Amino acid sequence: MALIEFNKEGKIAIFTINRPDALNSMNVQAARELHEALVAFRDDDELWVGIITGAGDRAFCAGADIKDMLPFLQKNLPQRPWAMPATPMRGLELWKPLIAAINGLALGGGLEIALACDIRIASEKARLGVPEVTLGLIPGWGGTQRLPRMVPRCKAAEMLLTGKAIDAQEAYRIGLVNRVVPPEAVMSTAMEWAETICQAGPLAVRAAKEAMIRGSNLTLEDGLKLETDLEAYLMSTEDYTEGAKAFTEKRKPDFKAR
Ligand code: HXC
Repeated sequence: MALIEFNKEGKIAIFTINRPDALNSMNVQAARELHEALVAFRDDDELWVGIITGAGDRAFCAGADIKDMLPFLQKNLPQRPWAMPATPMRGLELWKPLIAAINGLALGGGLEIALACDIRIASEKARLGVPEVTLGLIPGWGGTQRLPRMVPRCKAAEMLLTGKAIDAQEAYRIGLVNRVVPPEAVMSTAMEWAETICQAGPLAVRAAKEAMIRGSNLTLEDGLKLETDLEAYLMSTEDYTEGAKAFTEKRKPDFKAR
């Protein structure tokens, strides 16, 4: 049975972490499957938006599997950091948008998966945290870097230094998640957001994500150059020609990702 289920609904790819008995914690095999599924998504022209969620009603993902993944990393990280399959948390560049449908606990590496997504929809019952310091580690899938870039520094420090989880409402209040909905509405809300994004020009959506993420590490001047380059590229695409034509013809555009 796949540890990462990969389903397609129209232009939307749905990735389900499928280890509910272990609260969807990520063992090495699950990380490999996540890598493979996301590379297949990246390379499939028919898929425009991805949603990551967890199986069952308790957890999105309780982090790296402490009994399987952490020993693997302990053995490999010092000399072979690349042994960890590339994922959006680290090493896999993915400009197609990702939505985290946080159906329950998002702890440690689980929250870090959600942080590597662009939009986060949380269940009212979700709890989010980075408990790694309580194990004697720090978040190692980007949490020490992405969390302080996303929420006020004092809240990032609170979460990173105490390891205590926060509830979904608090996560919303500090800007860590986009929406909080009843548990049964998490997936349908994520699908609605995905469908809305699919209405826009897919190449433009990818360029917007690339500009936002790469730009955040640049000076304003270099960021504006990046924006100009991406805009010039978009203006040469069939999709932009179609978008402008559809506007003048007062109809919906028929984008082709070309
Ligand atoms: C392995 C895990 C797990 C994990 C839960 N389980 N989290 N197994 N790794 N991260 C397993 C339990 O062992 C148990 O299996 C089953 O899931 C149910 O969990 P329980 O602990 O029995 O449930 P409960 O008492 O309700 O407690 C829930 C919990 C607790 C508070 C979430 O499971 C917990 O503290 N889990 C660890 C969370 C954590 O520390 N995450 C960060 C990991 S480090 P059995 O077989 O006993 O029934 C990390 C680093 C990432 O993510 C970066 C690396 C570079």
